[in-house]
Amino acid sequence: MIITMQSFRGGVGKSSLTKNLALEIALQGKHISLVDLDISAPSLHLCFNSDPRENTFTINDFLLERCELSHVLKNPRKGLDFYPASLELDKLCSLLENGYNIARLTKAIQELDKKSDVVLIDNHSSITEEAMGVLLVSHKILLVTTPDLSSLEGIFLWRAILERLGINEEKILIILNKVFAARQDIQKIQAQLLQGAKKTADFIFFFSEEIALDGNNGQTPIHLKYPKSVFSQTIRDLANKILN
Ligand SMILES: Nc1ncnc2c1ncn2[C@@H]1O[C@H](COP(=O)(O)OP(=O)(O)OP(=O)(O)O)[C@@H](O)[C@H]1O
Ligand SMILES: [Mg+2]
Repeated sequence: MIITMQSFRGGVGKSSLTKNLALEIALQGKHISLVDLDISAPSLHLCFNSDPRENTFTINDFLLERCELSHVLKNPRKGLDFYPASLELDKLCSLLENGYNIARLTKAIQELDKKSDVVLIDNHSSITEEAMGVLLVSHKILLVTTPDLSSLEGIFLWRAILERLGINEEKILIILNKVFAARQDIQKIQAQLLQGAKKTADFIFFFSEEIALDGNNGQTPIHLKYPKSVFSQTIRDLANKILN
């Protein structure tokens, strides 16, 4: 199953959710392949102690057709295969300027899917053909937004694009992240979502001090570090919903 995490604005928590979801799925005994395709702002290497400055292949080398996807593989922990992106400026700029072969990428992702229980992708936030190519081969799309109107508007846009691409409604989950528990206007936000994206949030993640402190560092699953946190429970619920 190919699951893609998508947002519109930066900083909404896409990578934090991706990291914790990947670790939760691995802990449940599934073989997960985690791919950092947010090539303009990679961050998952921080979670899995993979130094992108090391002289090893990254997803950028694969996209630049300098290696195969299998050469990029890192094994940070049992059951979790990780495909990191690069922070090398020339590789990053070249891909952003010239794009890459989308068909070659989607074919490799589909091949990876045959070897894994779950392929989890931290996708490029911007609305690009490359991002859409990945969404087209995904079995589930998790649209991540904060309650901010600017972030919600981006989700309305993505919803409209997915509709135009003919992507089945059932594949889409909307995740509302960083909601303040004290917010009284959650119903208003849900109503805005319903109006703009023709769908309310499927999962709500409250603003979590643990996550804010954790940042993107460390590969200890949040529910082992902070087992009682609401965030941990919501990650478990999300993993269960996807896996079942
Ligand atoms: N539910 C939450 N509660 C509190 N802080 C959060 C929550 N989710 C994410 N954060 C924090 O928000 C910041 C941005 O998160 P993250 O890097 O995951 O966002 P992103 O959408 O991947 O951003 P980018 O566009 O840069 O890739 C991080 O410092 C993270 O710790
Ligand atoms: Mg990110």
